[in-house]
Amino acid sequence: MANHIPVLLHESIDLLDIRDGKTYLDLTLGRAGHSSEILKKIPHGLLIAFDQDEQAIVESKARLESIGKNFKIVHRNFMDLEEVLQEEGISGVDGILADLGVSSPQLDEASRGFSYKEDAPLDMRMDQSQTLSARVVVNTYSLTDLARVISDYGEDKDAYRIAKAIVKAREKKPIETTFELVDVIKSVKSAKELAKKGHPAKQTFQAIRIEVNHEEEALEKLLEVGPKLLNKGGRMAIITFMSLDDRLVKKAFRKLTTVEGSRTGYELPGEVEEAAYIDLTKKPILPSEEELEANRRATSSKLRGIQRK
Ligand SMILES: C[S@@+](CC[C@H](N)C(=O)[O-])C[C@H]1O[C@@H](n2cnc3c(N)ncnc32)[C@H](O)[C@@H]1O
Repeated sequence: MANHIPVLLHESIDLLDIRDGKTYLDLTLGRAGHSSEILKKIPHGLLIAFDQDEQAIVESKARLESIGKNFKIVHRNFMDLEEVLQEEGISGVDGILADLGVSSPQLDEASRGFSYKEDAPLDMRMDQSQTLSARVVVNTYSLTDLARVISDYGEDKDAYRIAKAIVKAREKKPIETTFELVDVIKSVKSAKELAKKGHPAKQTFQAIRIEVNHEEEALEKLLEVGPKLLNKGGRMAIITFMSLDDRLVKKAFRKLTTVEGSRTGYELPGEVEEAAYIDLTKKPILPSEEELEANRRATSSKLRGIQRK
């Protein structure tokens, strides 16, 4: 069974301040690292866990069942969060956790086509029932759309040149595999770039993965609806791995926890408008040295949280 080491596990569980009898959402079940810890703490509560990857669900179910029966797993994108809760008849929850991005099994199983280090058919779908795959993005998106995806989601300064090289290569024959795509990306990188630390295809692969799995859309939706679904005192914790995501979370949390406009200083008690949420992490929580030593995939992870007043 493929493994995933949970990132910032104790820090995120502590931040959520989990209480028995309450309702919690884990929006990114993965291999149930965080979900297991939540379930252990709520023998009389309810855990609802989302994952859009069927494989994650198959492999996590037995693990959760060995802890308790008070959980439900939903095979949906968490951008449908509000809808799913309505279907379940739940109007508010006491904690929401999102540990964003891909799991180790998704990256490590070559056949999933996520990795630039393994040769496999281009795929990158977390939800294998969807039709949009990396192969579709690479072979059918226009030059402009490819350049936008690689620039916005990969933040690669060579985005336009990479997009152009992709379009040129696919005119001869479709780009079918991860290594074929790696070769196209390498063909536009200078010798200086190729000699740098870090794989030259990393940013483009990240960008295409985000596009295929609608990751930015899902995070934006979560930041819009998640805070509203919290009960009084309820908390939301988000773990990010990319500066792109962390910036979105930071901005949204700042907006929720501060009141716009300046005060005159002459307001009477009760007249002072207060933010409806408390910022639990003025600065993001980062992994400890020990965690980084034990799990290199924790590198660049950041945890932020808010609480509804
Ligand atoms: C980083 S892993 C989570 C690992 C998990 N916390 C653990 O410790 O085992 C992210 C998981 O969330 C899923 N995922 C990512 N974005 C999602 C989304 N928008 N909707 C549903 N599942 C998503 C992925 O399929 C993956 O299994």
